[in-house]
Amino acid sequence: RIAYVNGAYVAHSDAFVHVEDRGYQFADGVYEVCEIRHGMIVDLTRHLDRLGRSLSELRIDWPMSRAALTQVIRQVARRNHVRNGMFYLQVTRGVAKRDHVFPAPGTRPSLVITAKSTNPDIIAGKNAKGINAITVPENRWDRVDIKTVGLLPNVLARQAAKESGAQEAIFVDEKGMVKEGAATNVWMVDEDGTLLTRPAEHGILRGITRTTLMDVAKKLGIAIREEEFSAEKMKSAREVFITAATSICFPVVRIDDRTIANGHPGFVTQKIREAFFDVAE
Ligand code: PDD
Repeated sequence: RIAYVNGAYVAHSDAFVHVEDRGYQFADGVYEVCEIRHGMIVDLTRHLDRLGRSLSELRIDWPMSRAALTQVIRQVARRNHVRNGMFYLQVTRGVAKRDHVFPAPGTRPSLVITAKSTNPDIIAGKNAKGINAITVPENRWDRVDIKTVGLLPNVLARQAAKESGAQEAIFVDEKGMVKEGAATNVWMVDEDGTLLTRPAEHGILRGITRTTLMDVAKKLGIAIREEEFSAEKMKSAREVFITAATSICFPVVRIDDRTIANGHPGFVTQKIREAFFDVAE
């Protein structure tokens, strides 16, 4: 089998993408699958229209012109002798040093196309016998408690933050309650000096830094409550900070158009940061 990978037709067994491809690291990409029947590509125009829409929604450039792409798709189908089957096409935002925000303009999107024949007997069998199904709760994708690479919403949030002059985006749920940052957990200090952070049972990633920080606070005699708080409450907090392995404990001094307290990193945040590495394993 032959695959198309970023400008070259290669043996399917040697068809690799780079480890820092954003599709691989962030699910930052789009795809199409299209049926090939009697050597004809079925609904190609509509599939390419949808591809164009997906690309434009994510602000990823076309990897090549639509006409050129059509030629490559036909080549891949031909080189794999597919008369009845399908092709798979994937475009990602390309290869760049891992960072949630979009890479520098000019970073070339990655393009991969494969094609394979389908077994007409299997399809005929399914049509003749019918298939079984199960029902599952709609949870695409609320399992943010799992540290998956399905980070496209986080990527778009970080990019939005950057474009409004911020360094982090804080997700707020439909009730106005704070969840977590695009790549951090979020904390606030309330009026009596208690640390608040959202319970990690549901709806956020249980950060390792978050867990260690609880030990740090205990050691320093700072009270902690794992409880939900609203974005409004956070904006009038004494201090707000974010935690992650990459930044440990960063003070947040401005959220949307509100200055947090006096607009300077807070005392509690600083104390915790200073004590952190004495407690961390
Ligand atoms: N992100 N929440 C989200 C969504 C995260 O992606 C991260 C970490 C955290 C904090 O987890 P920890 O304390 O274990 O790093 C919370 C990493 C740093 C990243 O994606 O770069």
